[in-house]
Amino acid sequence: MEKDVEIGIFGGTGIYDSGLLENTQEIDIDTPYGKPSDTITVGTFKGRKIAFLPRHGKKHTIPPHRINFRANIWAFKELGVTRIIAPSAVGSLKEELEPGHFVLPSQFLDFTKSRDGSFSEDGRVIHISVADPFCPELHSSITKVTDNQNIKIHKDCTYVCIEGPRFSTKAESKFYRTTGADIIGMTLVPECQLAREAQICYASISTVTDYDVWAEKPVTAKDVLETLSKNVEGTKKILTELIEKIPKTRSCSCAKALEEAEF
Ligand code: ADE
Repeated sequence: MEKDVEIGIFGGTGIYDSGLLENTQEIDIDTPYGKPSDTITVGTFKGRKIAFLPRHGKKHTIPPHRINFRANIWAFKELGVTRIIAPSAVGSLKEELEPGHFVLPSQFLDFTKSRDGSFSEDGRVIHISVADPFCPELHSSITKVTDNQNIKIHKDCTYVCIEGPRFSTKAESKFYRTTGADIIGMTLVPECQLAREAQICYASISTVTDYDVWAEKPVTAKDVLETLSKNVEGTKKILTELIEKIPKTRSCSCAKALEEAEF
């Protein structure tokens, strides 16, 4: 088993291959939690070893509430991944966050219902802090890249994670707006918190695909895909430069998430 992979990328809706990697190998991994979403593509890019896994599977067959998040994070950890970049599609809860814009969530509100969100089990009680759930070092690398490429990215945003796979009712959407949250999606939780438990740095790069259902025209899956297909190249361009910009050694505290977290 490879153990020297540095960076893991979870492809979101519309991103089923990284399109960047050289000398690729498909790795079929089993974990104590079952299989990850698909085989993991491991390859190199600009001298860095990267693992790529589309979280909905390569053929988009796994709905958000059925993703085996624990297996996905466990498999990345097995490969040696210490940094995860997680592109995703989101709806907007604010007028100024327009379809096509990029967003960097820094907080989340968890409205999921039935997901296995921890590696903590009977006999191993873990209480990690998610006061700041995302890696500050990755955030700073991402904003350096978007500044460099003159791409607008909304920072310090709050992501509402719903269970899905259905979209929200108008009442739910209006309620989420009253919380002050900015964007809404179905996959950030528990992915980011499992990464923290695994002491892996994690950052999400979200692409706004729609105005959810609070605006005039309720979102459809077709709208989401149409906007995403226009934005996939932008996301890949960010990833291309980001991989070079991520520092080789970690100076954040993500690697120490379990210190003082266990009974
Ligand atoms: N993913 C993309 N758009 C979404 C929305 N409006 N609600 C939940 N998840 C989404």
